[in-house]
Amino acid sequence: MASNKGTASAERLDLRSDFISRPTAAMVEAMVAASAETPGIGFREDPVVSRLEALSAELLGKEDALFCPTYTLGNQIAINASCQPGDVILAPHMAHALISEGGAPAALSGAQAEIVETERGAMLPAALEAALARKAAGGRPRVGLIVMENTHVHSGGCAVPEDTMKAVAELATAHGVPVHLDGSRLFNAAAFLSVEVTDLTRHADTVAISLNKGLSAPVSAVLAGTAERIAEAVDICHRFGGGRHRRPRANDRVHGRGQRQRPFSGPEVGGDRRRFGDQRAGGDQHTLHRRPPTGFRRRRLPGPLGPEGHAVLSNVDGSMRAVLHKDITSAHIDSITRAFEEAL
Ligand SMILES: Cc1ncc(COP(=O)(O)O)c(C=O)c1O
Repeated sequence: MASNKGTASAERLDLRSDFISRPTAAMVEAMVAASAETPGIGFREDPVVSRLEALSAELLGKEDALFCPTYTLGNQIAINASCQPGDVILAPHMAHALISEGGAPAALSGAQAEIVETERGAMLPAALEAALARKAAGGRPRVGLIVMENTHVHSGGCAVPEDTMKAVAELATAHGVPVHLDGSRLFNAAAFLSVEVTDLTRHADTVAISLNKGLSAPVSAVLAGTAERIAEAVDICHRFGGGRHRRPRANDRVHGRGQRQRPFSGPEVGGDRRRFGDQRAGGDQHTLHRRPPTGFRRRRLPGPLGPEGHAVLSNVDGSMRAVLHKDITSAHIDSITRAFEEAL
């Protein structure tokens, strides 16, 4: 099986996702300590989860936050809270919430999607304005929600610039439409853009972050927004099956102060990741994206990118991606960069 341990040269790396990043020693210690605390039996009764929610709300600059067992649930709660059946969601091309969550917006909320012209994961404000104006002129269907995704996973992890987010938020406000930010990897975006996370979250009514991707926790996510929106989210979470009587043990306190991960902010590896990003073909700051030549067949490749080599994923557009996270070292990056150069 692919592993991320040992030296970089001959080892087989698993670069399919940052899902597989491992908790830090401090996180594991905090999980053990937290398991000694009595969780309570009701919704929002668990003191450990309450601290996680309060810390998340503070970090994200929102009034309240709700622990969600999965990130998908957080996105879909936000959609359900804003959309009535028949409503339109305006979103970037290949938004995860629309195309990679089992058709949930339609199935769970009766919402339909309209894709706005997108460049490197960012909706073009002029295109969004035109879509909003068309809807305003026709009156129907109602636009229930605008979704932004930062970083945008299916463009290879591109960070959406703050200016674009601001422009989207201003249009949304002008048309009275709420904005949800799919910030699964928002800390990556903030580090890449050299801004505070709150510089980005201020342009959204609700925002969710993943704890189990760049932040290395084993599971789960947090959805943040106004106290009123999160109160609604609690009901929807319960309705969608996300209620629980006990916190998942594996995630106890992983987000506590002092154990917080700052992906890509370390000068050494951060520098590498920028370098990595700058080399991209279709690219981004947290994955290496390369588009193989026409007729390329990975299974015919004998080298480190072949079936017996590093584990990487193919994207829907035919490019290959290798995902970076905190357990991937500078030496690993050199090794995978060489592998791509040799293979392609
Ligand atoms: C941008 C984005 N949003 C949402 C999700 C859903 O997260 P989960 O699979 O943890 O529910 C993912 C998963 O990769 C993602 O990349």
